[in-house]
Amino acid sequence: MNNIIAFAGKGGVGKTTIASLLIRYLVKQKAGSVLAIDADPNSNLGELLGFKPTQDIGRIIDDISRNISQIPLNMSKDEFISYRIETTLDEAEGFDLLTLGRPEGTGCYCYVNNVLRNVSSKLMSNYDYIVIDNEAGFEHLSRKTLKKIDTLIIISDSTPQGLKAARRIFDLVKELKIEYKEIYLVVNRVKLNKKTDIDFPAEIAGFISEDVNISDAGEISIMNLDEKTQIIKETNEIFSHITERSRSCLKN
Ligand SMILES: Nc1ncnc2c1ncn2[C@@H]1O[C@H](COP(=O)(O)OP(=O)(O)O)[C@@H](O)[C@H]1O
Ligand SMILES: [Mg+2]
Repeated sequence: MNNIIAFAGKGGVGKTTIASLLIRYLVKQKAGSVLAIDADPNSNLGELLGFKPTQDIGRIIDDISRNISQIPLNMSKDEFISYRIETTLDEAEGFDLLTLGRPEGTGCYCYVNNVLRNVSSKLMSNYDYIVIDNEAGFEHLSRKTLKKIDTLIIISDSTPQGLKAARRIFDLVKELKIEYKEIYLVVNRVKLNKKTDIDFPAEIAGFISEDVNISDAGEISIMNLDEKTQIIKETNEIFSHITERSRSCLKN
């Protein structure tokens, strides 16, 4: 049984940063095979992990739409797109990466989502962990692009407005009847000694401090941060709790 972990939260709260820290954790722990899905067309999950993606679903759709004669006779266009995605998946050190991208041509964004939905369930079964960095909007949640989520992690900053937005996401998840096994809130960019009590309808998996190693990281890969860095210590504790919990859930 694999574990599908998805992130949600409004723009700029740290979804991509924390998703990449989770991928680092799983790779360093040798927890199993990892597929990272960058489902935000404006994002850079691969680059944060020190890897430049060579392929994305948007570009594959563009290429095939421009030259349909390359589609084998025994395959539909959709089947060929899925085949191309699976065979040109980016292989980084310790994990594979699937980047959503956005087609330039006539193919609309919802088409990319449909392709992701078709491809993902088949592809996902090959991995122990699937980490999905979602975009800020609710596109993937509301369209139910992901047929199955095991662990949903809502990220918020520590401001009252931020927490209100996180609460709205929680309510939306309930309203849309999105299925998950575990749901958590992680409060990011907390200033020192400001870990106040927070009233939230889901378990708070932990607090992450404001860390200059992240905001000033620039070109530095999350993979190269020292194990003793504050943010690594804090997030490792959170991820260890979350992955242990889901392992015991899967057993039961
Ligand atoms: N704990 C943190 N400390 C300092 N900077 C952070 C922290 N978490 C995220 N950031 C910074 O905040 C910005 C937005 O983060 P990002 O992960 O891209 O958010 P999102 O994916 O939710 O839009 C980035 O510049 C990132 O470096
Ligand atoms: Mg992001």
